Amino acid sequence: MNTTTAAVLKLLKSSDSYISGEQICQQLNISRTAVWKHIKTLKKLGYVIEAAPKRGYRITEETADPIPEQLEGLLNTEHFATKICYHKEICSTNRLLMEQAKNGAESGLTIIADRQTAGHGRMQRNWFSPSACNIYFSNLLRPEIEPYRAPQIALLCAAAMYDALKELFSKIPFGIKWPNDLFIDDKKCAGILCEMQTDMTTVQHVVIGIGLNVNVTSFPQELEDIATSISIHTGHEENRSQILAAIINRLDSYYKIWLKEGLQPFLATLNNASVLKGKQISVDLATKEVTGMAKEIAEDGTLVITSDNGQDIKIPSGEVHIKKFK
Ligand code: BTN
Repeated sequence: MNTTTAAVLKLLKSSDSYISGEQICQQLNISRTAVWKHIKTLKKLGYVIEAAPKRGYRITEETADPIPEQLEGLLNTEHFATKICYHKEICSTNRLLMEQAKNGAESGLTIIADRQTAGHGRMQRNWFSPSACNIYFSNLLRPEIEPYRAPQIALLCAAAMYDALKELFSKIPFGIKWPNDLFIDDKKCAGILCEMQTDMTTVQHVVIGIGLNVNVTSFPQELEDIATSISIHTGHEENRSQILAAIINRLDSYYKIWLKEGLQPFLATLNNASVLKGKQISVDLATKEVTGMAKEIAEDGTLVITSDNGQDIKIPSGEVHIKKFK
């Protein structure tokens, strides 16, 4: 939103009743046509604005879109969303932010989209990203850490999301599926994709991308049995800005703790909420498949499994499948 549109919005919000077009013109030193254009932009962003002859304009409903102006007053962060770019539609918040990271963008930059045309998850899978219902965002970090720690970031994000969502929706049975998914019962509601650039000794940048199904109620056929959303469980539409702000605030505070103390403070959450614990699983590794019983998430972020021959093995990363017994 440009600064004049933001100023029009501020005037509308500061008034309890109607504010005339003439008043807006005078206070912002703009023409009547310009006022009309800014009102149109605000309507496109989802604000419901009533226009009454001789009285002027008034906001009757805030936008449900998670736009920066809706988030600003709700955020208190140092490393996340210190600058926010909002797009009604882009290919992928991760793709765009990875490009900007390579061009020197500052740590803390967040890109939010209402819709993604090429949202992706791990293994280059598509991430279903329809408009006006869900949360899709990415945040850039430039941590001064050794590269071996970087994969732990997805786990601290999972813990942050779990705790933020549990606080908002205490009745929903969320779970964490190592290393990067949030589940409700046995269906996925959120995914975390951390993409990074590192060399032998340093991490140049990490882009954390998060997709959360909030208000979507119908999925393409291939996702019907494996995906779910928050509103499917609450039975009504939820406010995306409030949810996103709660998640970003929690990410910021957990990230600061993790920089100093590592994953230790989050192990209880990660293990208590684990949907894998005690389950028979198989893990696709680069060259082979390992099967066994999922035991715990260790302090270094690995998944410990007791393999079929009784040995404990630490899995650093991989795609996990829960075995179904008939
Ligand atoms: C996964 O489940 O494998 C991770 C899914 C991550 C999806 C999010 S949506 C916002 C960001 N932009 C993307 O293209 N992907 C991530």
